[in-house]
Amino acid sequence: MDALRIRPSSKPLTGKVRISGAKNAALPILCATLLSDGASHLRNVPRLRDIETTAALLRFLGRDVRVDAPEVHVAAGSQVKPEAPYELVKQMRASVLVLGPLVARFGRAKVSLPGGCAIGARPIDQHLKGLEAMGCTIRLERGYVMAEGPNGGGRLKGAEVVFDIPTVTGTENLMMAAALAKGRTTLVNCAREPEVEELGRILNKMGAEVNGAGTDVMHIVGTDRGELAPFDHAIIPDRIEAGTYMVAAAMIEGGDVLVEGAELSDLEALAMKMRAAGVEITSEGHNIRVKRTGPLRGVNVTTAPHPGFPTDMQAQFLALMSMAKGESVITETIFENRFMHVPELQRMGASVALRGNTAVVQGVNRLYGAAVMATDLRASASLVIAGIVADDETEVRRIYHLDRGYERIEEKLHGLGVDVERVKGAEA
Ligand code: EPU
Repeated sequence: MDALRIRPSSKPLTGKVRISGAKNAALPILCATLLSDGASHLRNVPRLRDIETTAALLRFLGRDVRVDAPEVHVAAGSQVKPEAPYELVKQMRASVLVLGPLVARFGRAKVSLPGGCAIGARPIDQHLKGLEAMGCTIRLERGYVMAEGPNGGGRLKGAEVVFDIPTVTGTENLMMAAALAKGRTTLVNCAREPEVEELGRILNKMGAEVNGAGTDVMHIVGTDRGELAPFDHAIIPDRIEAGTYMVAAAMIEGGDVLVEGAELSDLEALAMKMRAAGVEITSEGHNIRVKRTGPLRGVNVTTAPHPGFPTDMQAQFLALMSMAKGESVITETIFENRFMHVPELQRMGASVALRGNTAVVQGVNRLYGAAVMATDLRASASLVIAGIVADDETEVRRIYHLDRGYERIEEKLHGLGVDVERVKGAEA
């Protein structure tokens, strides 16, 4: 398994880093191609393992997919088999995003239940509840969701769905289902993430009628044509990748980095907390400038659905706080097991006390280099960030997690002055 080896450098991070397309926008958009038989063209798609996994799933479903990142072409291919097998779904939970489009388009779908993952149980009850409200019959059988449209595979019907909690992929699944349903669907308590808004834009480009994407109430009128039109679209920049480089830039005093192609408006909660910690954050057109001119102060953070502080930035921010003056209290409210980075950061000398869903961090003056590993994507990113300031070499192992979500991370960090290399086949 590959590892990232990061050597200590007292030099602050400087220069520019260009942000890739958003993984969590590209995944639902790829699944939305199932709603059309025409040839769709996606641009600014990141070169990531999760994109390859989704392409493999779409091919299994009978689509003709050509990935030539940053471009992806999807065409109809052979006849669709509306079935997503465990072998593919277990590699990536977001595979559940084919459920809505498949049952809306083909009247039935058999999709493996994703199961738990490193950060929590992550149920899909809200996705299923919404589909049932639209007339679907759902059966859970041998680890699979068997979904069937009304009257043995008919067209879904518009419905009013109130989510118990805002769910990103749940909202996206129902948006895609509603785009082909008969009549009007109202979704209440929707996730408001920019990636949800982006899917709304795509569905509208495809000829659907989606209003309110990016707010907590959405109205969708399904088309009577049976399918949507193909599209050509450039994916929005990845706000979490941008946030990760913002935090990395702030790790060493004197850091001055331009994060290129990122929208500060999508990262306000992170920017506010970084400013409170003493970091200068400014918007320069479609770029974000991060400057650290003085010491870091500890600040408290509680994760929340967008526009709150993103759970996907919690691990990286905790690494930053481990070097800040004073205490910071970090509370995770979205996933129940998202502190897997803490024991590894503790091995590097961070002072963190875990109490349930809260981490109390006391800033230290130095972190020590060590061999570390993490079991999820963002936790791995936090270990890389900690490695930037560690006093000796840090080896972050099992970086296949990083490769799921960060395009060419070692190249991008190297461009900012970090001494980092990928070691092929390092010890697992
Ligand atoms: N939840 C339920 N029932 C459901 C759906 C969700 O109880 O039917 C709960 C979850 O267990 C969690 C909360 O609702 O406690 C929110 O989960 P959500 O459904 O919003 O998460 P997701 O859609 O599975 C997406 C991102 C994640 C990101 C979360 C939260 C994609 C492909 N994934 O997951 O991204 O952490 O939203 O913002 O969009 C990552 O990129 O590293 C990542 C994990």
